Amino acid sequence: MFAMSNEEKSASAWNFRSNPENTMAKSVSTLTLKKYKQEGKKIVCLTAYDYSTAKILDQAGVDLILVGDSLAMVALGHKTTHAVTMEDMIHHTKAVTRGVERALVVADLPFMSYQVDETHAISNAGRFIKEAQAQAVKLEGATELNLQVISRLVSMGIPVMGHLGFTPQSINVFGGTHVQGKSADDAIKLIEDSLALERAGVFSLVLEMVPHSVSKIISQKLQIPAIGIGAGDGCDGQILVTDDLLGKYTDFKPRFVRRYASLDEVCSEAIKNYASDVMTSKFPNAQESFFLSETEEKLFQDRLKAGSKN
Ligand code: KIV
Repeated sequence: MFAMSNEEKSASAWNFRSNPENTMAKSVSTLTLKKYKQEGKKIVCLTAYDYSTAKILDQAGVDLILVGDSLAMVALGHKTTHAVTMEDMIHHTKAVTRGVERALVVADLPFMSYQVDETHAISNAGRFIKEAQAQAVKLEGATELNLQVISRLVSMGIPVMGHLGFTPQSINVFGGTHVQGKSADDAIKLIEDSLALERAGVFSLVLEMVPHSVSKIISQKLQIPAIGIGAGDGCDGQILVTDDLLGKYTDFKPRFVRRYASLDEVCSEAIKNYASDVMTSKFPNAQESFFLSETEEKLFQDRLKAGSKN
């Protein structure tokens, strides 16, 4: 028998995960993700903001779907994540959870929904679980308040995902979109913050725009899975904004994004073809239209003629 290479093993594991017969029966939980880490299986994560996209990702076998506050830019056209509200996030999370049967759905707590005080943070996190049927929430940073909020939420039965490195809600403090943890001091602080989040009870941690060796050592030190975005291949899984990967959101393309499609071009071409068909009366054709029965058509024409005599 031939021995399988690592690439072949990963491909066959993915085929198994994305086959509806194997995947639909078993939904992904926070424990599944921990088990994947222990077994050395990479965790596949993406964002979604609507029902049809969430359904495609889920049926393709994506493990974790994040309703990210990147919604602000990608779906709502804002310049940063700041403007998105709890109401926006709840509305879109509801749409996503309706489309998902297997993946773990995580909802992002938006700017100022958890930074004010514990009670406010807890009631907002609870809304995602109760009203929108998300299975977990995510928040950015490892402040003292965040650590308290995380342990309270976990004790109440709400799993929390952490997010360190470049945390977009703090873009104004960072002075732009920059790699974090670039000095030895900052790298050590990132390790300490990651461990503090783990102790507080997060089930997983996003590391965004962090140097390779730093995210790799954090992933090795943590028992929980570290999910990278612009953090190299040493993490336990990867996440990207789906619209970046599909080439649908093109306002800017961070260096860490790999485009797997050019949906902007595909969509634009399709829309131009539609417009041309409308203008030349090629759309709609007979199959795309509805007709009266012969009898009703005759009666209808007779009525029109009779009417025109009056
Ligand atoms: O809001 C978002 O989409 C995110 C990720 C890409 C990690 O936080």
